[in-house]
Order: sequence, then C-alpha cells, then structure tokens
Amino acid sequence: MNINGKAMRTIWVKPDGFPVEIIDQTALPHALKTVALKTCDDAAYAIQAMLVRGAPLIGVTAAYGVALAMREDASDSSLDEAITLLAAQRPTAVNLRWALDQMRGALAGIPNEERPRAAFKFAAKLATDDVEMCRKIGAHGLEIIKKIAASKPGQPVNILTHCNAGWLACIDWGTATAPIYQAHNAGIPVHVFVDETRPRNQGASLTAFELAQAGVPHTLICDNAGGHYMQSGVVDLVITGTDRVAANGDVANKIGTYLKALAAFDNDVPFYVALPSSTIDWTMPSGKDIPIEERSADEVLHVAGRLANGQVASVAIAPPGTKAGNPAFDMTPARLVTGLITERGICNATPDGLLTLYPEHRSGGSAVA
Ligand code: MRU
Repeated sequence: MNINGKAMRTIWVKPDGFPVEIIDQTALPHALKTVALKTCDDAAYAIQAMLVRGAPLIGVTAAYGVALAMREDASDSSLDEAITLLAAQRPTAVNLRWALDQMRGALAGIPNEERPRAAFKFAAKLATDDVEMCRKIGAHGLEIIKKIAASKPGQPVNILTHCNAGWLACIDWGTATAPIYQAHNAGIPVHVFVDETRPRNQGASLTAFELAQAGVPHTLICDNAGGHYMQSGVVDLVITGTDRVAANGDVANKIGTYLKALAAFDNDVPFYVALPSSTIDWTMPSGKDIPIEERSADEVLHVAGRLANGQVASVAIAPPGTKAGNPAFDMTPARLVTGLITERGICNATPDGLLTLYPEHRSGGSAVA
C-alpha cells in the first residue's frame, strides 16, 4: 500500500541484507518514522512496545528476530533462547507462536554456517506468504461486499471495523481491510465506520490513516457509537480482524470486539472476521482458554495526541491514583460470528466450517469442543 504515494510494506530488509527495518507505528499518524532492527533484542522490544503490532506483523517480526539472532550466533542454544525471548513478548496473537514454530522447523537440520542465510530467506517467505494470504482474503471478502452493493445500487456499502486490521497490522493489504481496498479499487462505493479503539486508539491513529492514504471514504466514531449506528440501520456489515481463532470458531480480538458482535447480532448486521490460517489455533478447543493480555494501566489513564503547536504529548484523563484495568483483547463466541473470511474462502465459525476449508487438520490435533 502507499504512504504519501510511495509503496511501502510494514517490514523489509535493506538491499544488502541488513538491517531489518520497520515503520514505527507508535509515531503514526503524526510522523512517518522507520526504525532499524539489528538484533533479536531489538525485534523483541519492537513487539513488546508495539512499534509493530497486529497479529500477522507480530509473527513476521518475530521470524526476522530469529534471523537476527542466527546472524550473531547460529547455535541450537541461541535458536532456543531467541524463540523463548520472542514468544514471551505478547501472549494473545497466536501468529507469534506460529511464526516461531515455522522458523524452528525451517532451521532444523540446517548446518549452523548456513543458518543465517536460511533464516532470513524463510522470514522473507513468511512475509511474502502473508501478503498473498491477505490478497486472497480480500478477493473472498469482496464477494460479500459486491452482493450488498448490488442490493443498494448507487449507494455506498457501509462497513464498520474495529482496531486496526489493516495493512499496518500485516505486511500489505490487511485482513479486515483487504476486501474494502479491493472493493474500492474495483470502483464499488464503500464507506468505513472506524472505531477509535480505546485505549491505544489504533482505529483513530492507524486505520483512519491508512484509509485516508488509500482514498477510502471513512468516518471515525467513538467506540460507544457502533451500537447506535447499527440500530439506526446505517451499517451494512462489520468486518474485524482477529488475534486467535479457536478450533470451534471462537474469536479473540481487540478489546471491544465482543460488544460490536453483540450489537451486530441484535440488529441483524452481518459480522465477519477476516484472518489468515496462521491465526487459527488448532490446539485450542474453544476461546475460553485464549490468554488475554493485560497491559499497563497507563494506557487507560492517559491519551496521546498532537497539540495545536504540532507537538505530540500524552495527557492524564483521570484523577491521580485512579485504578485502571486494561485487558487488551476479548473473546467473541462463535455463535455471534456470521462467517470467517480466510485465504481459502469463507466458512461458518464452527469446527466443521473450519475443517471443511482446512481438512488437513481433521485428524491429529487435540479434540474440538
Ligand atoms: O494490540 P494490537 O494492536 O496488536 O491488536 C491488533 C488487533 O487486535 C487486530 O485486530 C488483530 O491483530 C488482527 S490484525 C490483522
């Protein structure tokens, strides 16, 4: 996708193969800042401090973190240490564990002297594969948007989304946004209601930013407004991303997603979740055991933004000493999900729905609730 007309991805490697570079998402939308990752510790920090965030991008950054570790020490113990460190940075997005498992598998049996090159090559493959998965998610999701567009000729299809499941959360395209970008590119009028997504405001700072860059009409709304808009009949469809889908179709995503799903259910608004297969946790029978990250209370007690003089600042919004809880994700039960949009097609959020698209998981893994 483009920033100021220049094609960019969220993570890349310098032409001579080092270092890895990322867009520092904590600086958006006020500044476009890139940061070099030179060590595995740099990659771990970027994930923990949310310079990079979003399930697919967390996974690919971790993969490059392993490659950076191999560059310094390609021994088995270094590989184990890197994987342990990176896996501990964020608990909910299963793409992190998935990518690390992929790296471990790819490096198994490779002689130490060949490991750095192999690791960078495989991390690059995970990035390229993610782009292709997101493109396909877009193509499948586009069919849903096309049907709605055909039912209201000349009027925009109004889509509500939560958090940022856009290209900034992935490598390119995004998951929830891929159908939207593809509809927009195909000349189908779309309009997006963007939830601000407290406490970190990924909707306001990232989704609004990328939609504006792509010229997609959108309206920023506060998190509490979605139910009202759905009740008023102005939302045709909700599409969100996810950090982990359990084998029964339960969905963990950014805090507040569950409330949007409830409002959508109550108002007969289709509620779709878009994901690459790297987000499915086949070992997790249901969503109730998905670990929910608890982040710093400071994120709730403060809001960051740009002052009139252009300076970016953080301000306190509660009385000193206020206690705050900050679960970063919630779990939406599968019964509230109209369908899962994957790179292989759209399925019901049920064990059978998932297994129809991914029959290779029919035997082997643990029991499905
Ligand atoms: O805490 P974040 O910003 O990493 O949370 C991101 C989300 O919840 C996204 O919706 C999810 O990762 C899907 S990304 C394609």
